[in-house]
Order: sequence, then structure tokens, then C-alpha cells
Amino acid sequence: MANHVSVVLVRPTFVYKNHDLRNRPPSFGLSLGTAIAAFVNLTVSDPWVEEVILRIRKRTVVFCLLSTPHGGFPVISSIEVRPLPDGAYGAGLNGDRRNHLLRKRFRINCGYNGSEPLRYPYDPYDRLWDADRYFSPTRLSAGFHIEVPINVSGLRESPPIAVLQTVRVLARKNVLAYNLSLGSPGDYLVVLYFAGILPVSSSFDILVNADMVRSSYRVNHAEAGVILHLAKSVDSLNIMFRNITFYPQVNAFEVYEIVEIPQEVSATTVSALQVIQQSTGFDLGWQDDPCSPLPWKHLECNGSLVTSLALFNMDLGAIYSTFGDLLDLRALDLHNTSLTGEIMNLGSLQRLETLNLSFNKLTSFGSGINTMISLQILDLQNNNLEGAVPDSLGSLKNLHLLNLENNKLEGILPQSLNKESLEVRTSGNLCLSFTFSTCNNLSDHPSIQTPQFTVVNIPKHSNHIKKEKILGVIGVLCCMIILILVAIFKYKRRKRTDGTVITSSAWTTTEMRSWDATKIFTYKEIKVATNNFNDVIGSGGFGKIYLGKLSDGKLVAVKVRSDRTQLGADSFVNEVRLLTQVRHPNLVTLEGFCHESEQQILVYEYLPGRSLADNLYGSNSKKATLNWACRLKIAVDAAKGLDYLHNGSTPRIIHRDVKSSNILLDMEFNAKVGDFGLSKQVPQASASHVTTAVKGTAGYLDPEYYSTLQLTEKSDVYSFGIVLLELICGREPLSHAGPPDTYNLVLWAKPYLQAGAFEIVDESIKGAFDVESMRKAASIAVKCVDRDASGRPTIAQVLAELKEAYTIQLTSSSSGGHLL
Ligand SMILES: *[C@@H]1O[C@H](CO)[C@@H](O)[C@H](O)[C@H]1NC(C)=O
Ligand SMILES: *[C@@H]1O[C@H](CO)[C@@H](O)[C@H](O)[C@H]1NC(C)=O
Ligand SMILES: *[C@@H]1O[C@H](CO)[C@@H](O)[C@H](O)[C@H]1NC(C)=O
Ligand SMILES: *[C@@H]1O[C@H](CO)[C@@H](O)[C@H](O)[C@H]1NC(C)=O
Repeated sequence: MANHVSVVLVRPTFVYKNHDLRNRPPSFGLSLGTAIAAFVNLTVSDPWVEEVILRIRKRTVVFCLLSTPHGGFPVISSIEVRPLPDGAYGAGLNGDRRNHLLRKRFRINCGYNGSEPLRYPYDPYDRLWDADRYFSPTRLSAGFHIEVPINVSGLRESPPIAVLQTVRVLARKNVLAYNLSLGSPGDYLVVLYFAGILPVSSSFDILVNADMVRSSYRVNHAEAGVILHLAKSVDSLNIMFRNITFYPQVNAFEVYEIVEIPQEVSATTVSALQVIQQSTGFDLGWQDDPCSPLPWKHLECNGSLVTSLALFNMDLGAIYSTFGDLLDLRALDLHNTSLTGEIMNLGSLQRLETLNLSFNKLTSFGSGINTMISLQILDLQNNNLEGAVPDSLGSLKNLHLLNLENNKLEGILPQSLNKESLEVRTSGNLCLSFTFSTCNNLSDHPSIQTPQFTVVNIPKHSNHIKKEKILGVIGVLCCMIILILVAIFKYKRRKRTDGTVITSSAWTTTEMRSWDATKIFTYKEIKVATNNFNDVIGSGGFGKIYLGKLSDGKLVAVKVRSDRTQLGADSFVNEVRLLTQVRHPNLVTLEGFCHESEQQILVYEYLPGRSLADNLYGSNSKKATLNWACRLKIAVDAAKGLDYLHNGSTPRIIHRDVKSSNILLDMEFNAKVGDFGLSKQVPQASASHVTTAVKGTAGYLDPEYYSTLQLTEKSDVYSFGIVLLELICGREPLSHAGPPDTYNLVLWAKPYLQAGAFEIVDESIKGAFDVESMRKAASIAVKCVDRDASGRPTIAQVLAELKEAYTIQLTSSSSGGHLL
């Protein structure tokens, strides 16, 4: 398909015709991306044709049939996808209607009386233009068909000439009208087409539901016009052409229902859920948006916010830090998931109301619980919690049920928990009570159960997590998912702008002033430099990135922190501290930072060539420019940067988030590794690993890291191996564009590359690489992504091999090096 497809027509056709001999025509929903585009009822019409017009944002659109309770099995017979003219139907798809799609209700070729709809080749875009004989407009003359050359080049909707050559026209002074029943109330787009095919020019008023859309509209001979009109909250349409001087006429019209496309879940949440899905091997659901059109299994949503997650009766082992990224959670249920150790990584969940960690093997309360300020119910029954209950739990003002039953707790319960509004359940512990005496008596008889504290007056506003019924009728998700490939286009991910920023970092500006080699900017200076945050050039896990210009004229990339959690504050301080120490030509330089009360901003050198990911996949992808030698040069540069982090700097640094969007290029394709927000320092030179919770980006995660939680430099090597595979294959690590066995880049590419079968090499470099050079690079990439960390080379070994591959390529091709 063409390169700039942005608006497409999707046309599925459904035919039942009693194929199963049960005589029960099904009814079901149809979704495109996050939107429920239509409901199909084959009792009403069989076959049933739907047409949906939508703007394409990604390379794929997920098309699903959604079965309804008692609706029978969905069927589908064909699906067509057609590009439409750029900018067509703008009134329904542009501006504040960007998040909408158009569902066709009527497309009528006025005055046309044929038995089949008119379509390709008359309409190059293959829309179906129906005859209008099923309508009974008031007092109509017969349709005219007159061959007049019409100039339609100014009309964005590009109506077919053949459609414009017929017309409904009223010869006497009167009113021409169409009455259309729409069934359900909603917003509709009405598109009216006029062409001057009559010997005289006509002039008339156009009214829709009695609203004057155009008065004294004039159709001149051999000219054509289109009028787009939005009719809001209507369930029927009366389209009227009222005579002024000459014949009212209309050549064609279309009516579309305007359907809202629900907002997508934020990228952070999607990434967190993917990490959880990957690291647990647990199938949460299909691969598109977690909330819409139907929430994934184990999730509940409120709009585009994931508000509830329940994973249970499975083996999780520990609470990954990724859970702490699900900031919108109101309820989290991790009962019976083999959790051990302490309760951790949940402190950032400030909206969490219900936390169920029962039936695990947790031994300690950890330190984060008291920051979950909205907590109302905390269920810790049937764990191995030991020692005393921490006083800090008393600071949870909204808590009204604390279940500590069947643990190994002992001692006196903090008085802060002794209040009317809180029910504390304590039975089945070694010895646990609010009063000393009870405890002393019982400590000699641990088998006797302590009395249970039950308190009255539980507040009413209480614990009911309201189940959001996003879809009244829809129950089960159907069997059918079709991925529509719609080629390349402008990919823009909407990012939600977070309003408030809470800073809780312990670092003060004075402390940071003592660090040298960086410049501390005031917020004012940053505002001036970025022209009041005018030019967004990207966004990452940290927040938005703006282009700025320092007073000395130097261009900089300004990263403004947008997440509201302690995690973010930590990673800010972490990054500033690390980057002040780290200087290397293949690492992105920190020019300075700003850390005022509400603001955390990092100022980096600006690399105009954007990221490797942008170059490989972005809207202005320069994939074709990136020949094999150039790709190897980028790999060598990035490996040099990582080698410095692992082996050249003190302390050693593990990057933790190596990925193609963190490798930045200048205009000469020199590569630098950036984004140290997730870096971890290795404390002692001798330490072999750091134990940490899983953090990173889905698709690049070292499988051994998330099973052992032991982070070594080899985890970076794994992620770097993925980047090498991207350079070789020219595709993203996780992609759902092809058949399921190609989704995961590693699983798909590894067997081919091991066998020296280079048919999977990126199309844009095929036939233009030295086989020996490719063999070497492929072999090192495969070794990097070995499941077993000890089987992977060090980054220094990777660098040496890549240099060789690069040299082989340069010497074999005379033209290969011209970019470098
Ligand atoms: C489908 O249409 C038939 C006939 O109009 C109607 O009886 C039935 O209730 C409809 N089914 C649904 C699910 O709306
Ligand atoms: C057709 O219309 C366009 C703009 O509406 C105009 O630029 C062009 O010259 C016209 N062509 C002819 C053949 O009249
Ligand atoms: C916990 O999960 C396992 C399966 O992983 C199941 O066999 C067991 O019955 C569950 N226990 C409880 C108490 O739900
Ligand atoms: C937590 O989960 C357990 C196991 O399913 C259940 O018995 C208990 O009622 C849950 N706690 C709450 C507060 O819902």
C-alpha cells in the first residue's frame, strides 16, 4: 500500500445463510482498535455489510468480533481495507474529533436506479454507492443522468464522476427532502454532494433537521461542491433542499455515525503489564490495549485506567517493582502467588484501596505500606509474618480492615491501630493483642487462639470496588482477531500529560551544587531555553523531552519529569549523580539540571539524528539510508559506550534499559547511549551481581534476570543482543504484524541466524552486505541472547567481534563506507 495512508475504509461482510443448519442467525459486536465500531445482527439482514472509516495511527489495527451472551457464534466472510483520499471526511475525523471513527449508515447515489451499488472501477476508492430507489423523498421528479465534464479536483472526498452524473432534482418551486431513520441517538456526519450537470445553475437553501446549513447555495454549471455537516444527538435526519430561484438538487449523500475511540492505556501501564505477563509467563489477554474494547483477563478498568489487577494461584515469587508502576490501581489481589520475603515495591500505589496478599509466605512487612495512603483493606492472613506489627500501619487513615490471621506475629499491637473505625483480625498468631496481660498469659499457651478484635462502626463509604461495566451486553471475547497491515504512516503516540508533580527527594539543591562538572539551571532559564516548553521532541518513561537552546546557542534536549512517584524522584537523583561522573564520546552528555521544589529537569546534549528506534521505525524512518556498514558502526559505537559503563567507569554501571530508543544518533550516524534513569551501580568492584527487582522494557528483558532477580552486566548484554537483532532484521522486538510465531524477535530470528539462513535479514539491506560480516554479527547477536547468562559473551568480547564484522564489511564493499 502507499506510503502515506492515513485514512482507510474497512469493510467486513458477514454472511450466515443458516450454514450450521440451526437457523439461529448470530448477533455480535465488531471492534477496531479500542473502539466498538458496530453491532451486527444477522437476523435483521443477511448478508450484512459494515463500512468503517478511520484514521490509522499504528501499523496494525486489531479487528475483533465480540460475541455477546446468547448471541451465537460470530461469522465473517470477507474483509476489505481500502485507502481513502488524504484529508477526506475531515469534519468527522479532524480537530477535536481525532479520536473518532465513522461508521457508514447511508451512502446514496441520488437519481441512480441500478440494481447493484456503484463501486470500483467507477469509484477508485471502492466505496459502495447505493441506488436511492428505496427512499421516498417527497414529490420527486425522476432521476436525471447527464454527461457533463465535472471538475472534482478541489474536493477532498473525491466523489466518483459517475456518481455525480446522476441527480435528484425538483423541477417545480418546492421542497426536496430525504427522511432517514437512524435508530439510535448519536452524533452523525452528513456529507452532501452537488454537481452542475443541469443546463441551468440552481440555487437553494439546505436544511438538516430544520437547521439552516447553507442558504442560497448555488451550483454552477460543470462545477462540483461538497458540504459536510455535523448533526448532534439526533436519531433521525431530515435533509431538505428548499427552492429559492431554481431547481433544488442533490447528486449524492453520505451519513456516518461518529463513534468515539476510547483512549489507549498509557504506555507505562502497558509496558508494566507486558513485563508482568512476560516474567510470569501468564496469559493476561490478547495483545492490544489492556482496557478497550474489553479489559484483559484479570484486569478491571475505568476508562483507560487499569484499576484492578488480580493474579492468584500461581507462582510469582516476589512482588516485582513493575507492580509499583501501575499507579491507577484501586485493588490488587496477589493471594496464593508464593510471595516470599518482605512486602515491597508497592509504596507508590497511592490510590490503592484494597490489597490482598493472603495465602503467601511473606515474612516481613517491609517499609512501603504506610505510603499507600488510600488503603482501606489490607489482607495479610495466612503468611509467615514474624515479629511485631509496625506502628506505621496506624498512619493509614482510611484503613478499616486489617487481617493478620494465621501468621507468626507476636507482641503488643500498636495503640495507633486501636480505633473504632478499624477492624483488626489477629487470631492464629503466636501472641498478639492490644494489652500486655493478655499477651503474657497466652505466650505460655501458643496453641490457644487469641481473641479476635471486632469493632463496630465501619464507615459507610467503604470497600466496594465498583465493577465498571464498560460494555453492558458483551460478555465473552470471541475467537477471532485479525491484524490488518496498513503499511507505514505517521506514528504518533498520545501521551497523557500529568498535572501534578510531587517531589519527595531528599536531595537539596545545595547538596547538588557541590557536585562539579555540571551546570545547575533555574526553572526560569529552562523556560527561556525551551521557549516555554514549546517543541516536544520525544517522551520517555521519565516524561516529555523538549528541544532547547542555551544562551550560548548550544542546542539541548530537556527532559522534564512527569511521573509523580518516589520511584521517579529516585531515578532523577540516580541519573544526575551517575551522569556527573560519566563522560565518554559514546555516552550522552549531561549539560546540567534543574531541581527546584516542583521541578526535576535534566538538560542533555541534543542529538539531531534522533534515536536508533526512530531511524528504524519512526515516521521519518531513515531505514533505507542505514546500510549494513552504517548499522555496524552504530552497534560498535553503542558497544563502546556500554563497555565504558561496565568496565571503564568507577563504580561499574549496569545500564538496565538498553534498547534502540535509548541509542541516539548525530547527523553523521555516530551513536551514543543515553537514558541512565534506571541504571544501577555495582557497589564493590568484586561484587558479581546486584539483587534487584525487575525493571526495564518489555521485549528487551533478560529472562534470567527476571527469574533470579540477580542483575549482572550480562543483562545489558542480552538487551544489546536484541538491539543487534533489530539492526539485522529491521523490526521491533515485539511485533504483532505477522503470524504468531514471528511476534517475538528472539524466538523467531534465532533459529534462522544460527542456521546462517539470512532470508530474514531486513529487506532494505538485503543483497547489500558481505556474508562473512553478517555471519559474524549474527553469531554474536545470537550468543548475546542466550537464555543462560553464563553463555553470553562480555560486552568487551561483543565489541571486539563487532569491530571485526565492521572491518570485513568496509574492506569488502567500496561503497559501504560512504556514510561514515
Ligand atoms: C436482532 O434482530 C432481531 C429482529 O429485529 C431482534 O428480535 C433481536 O432482538 C436482535 N438481537 C439483538 C441481540 O439485538
Ligand atoms: C479544477 O479545479 C481546480 C481547483 O478547484 C483548479 O485548480 C483547476 O484548474 C480546475 N481544472 C479545470 C480543468 O478546470
Ligand atoms: C493455591 O494455588 C494452587 C495452584 O497454584 C492450588 O493448587 C491451591 O489450591 C491454591 N491454594 C489456595 C489456598 O487457594
Ligand atoms: C483475599 O483473598 C482470599 C483468598 O481468595 C479471600 O479468602 C479473602 O476474602 C480475600 N480478602 C478480601 C479482603 O477480600
